[in-house]
Amino acid sequence: MRDVAEKAGVSITSVSHFINNTRPISDSLKEQIELAMTDLDFQPNALARSLRLKQTKSVGIIVPDSANPFFANVTRSIEKALFANQYNVILGNSDGDLDRALLYLKVMTERQVDGLIFIDVGASGDVLNAALRSLNIPVILIDRIVPGVEVDYVTVTNIRGGFDATQHLISLGHRRIACLTGPRGLTASMDRVAGYRQALSEADLPLDENLIYTGDFQFESGYDGARQLLNLSPRPTAIFACNDLMAVGVMRAAAELGIVVPSELSVVGFDDIPLAKFSAPALTTIAQPTEQIGILTANRFLKRMQNQDLPPEQQILETELLIRQTTAPALTKRG
Ligand code: RIB
Repeated sequence: MRDVAEKAGVSITSVSHFINNTRPISDSLKEQIELAMTDLDFQPNALARSLRLKQTKSVGIIVPDSANPFFANVTRSIEKALFANQYNVILGNSDGDLDRALLYLKVMTERQVDGLIFIDVGASGDVLNAALRSLNIPVILIDRIVPGVEVDYVTVTNIRGGFDATQHLISLGHRRIACLTGPRGLTASMDRVAGYRQALSEADLPLDENLIYTGDFQFESGYDGARQLLNLSPRPTAIFACNDLMAVGVMRAAAELGIVVPSELSVVGFDDIPLAKFSAPALTTIAQPTEQIGILTANRFLKRMQNQDLPPEQQILETELLIRQTTAPALTKRG
């Protein structure tokens, strides 16, 4: 910085304000400094700056499955909003494993991130509270609420989404509706199943526990679950899958069994990943506003960075039923 200041004929303070964007500088001074930097092939030292400013302008994001388009799209939206505010993102994939997720929390802290955005993979409130306390940096939880952990949240109306998916199938005359859940212990999945149960109860339809299959939000569990559910007698005429990847697995299984979607089997997913509208037939699903989830998460993070004493806030966005081509009226019993 000293060499740049000398070359440009300005003070080191001016060069520092220019590099750290900490005070407005006249255009002529900017030009002198930029010329000097080019001549000297100067590269600001991010590590030195971090030590001096005691912040790295980096944010850790830990997701359960970076290959799942839902998390990829949420992460992209967060990254875009934070980058516009001079933050960069370090992504960690916990692969749905709690030990790995907790290890990542430590790794990110060692990387001196200024804050963390975390999606739970089944931690208890005590375990997560202990882990977050030891970090001593702002943390925002998105998507899955962890009971007993009082931090900022951004999530969606999961119960309403499960209810709307099931109620839509009931309105089509379906009476034996199966449900493919996500991993045990995740509130996002449990709430969707609660919405499923509520819709059946409000329609005075019996709940057959054999129609509920525990999946893991991956294609394969949707496929395996459908093979088992479609083997039941009487066979369910509709399946609500708690995410789109499992719904696609259901459609694969139905095709292999020669069961036509939607005339013989209606399918509803959850998320509205880009694949949903391009699958054939196009998937009826419960849309999550992923772009908005990312923006609200980034904005809350920036606010929290300005004032770490803000009381925790839960922001809950609306889901939306998108009716496409995988749901149809139940076949009436002939004869
Ligand atoms: O597809 C992954 C699922 O895990 C999504 O429904 C999201 O809400 C998360 O809980």
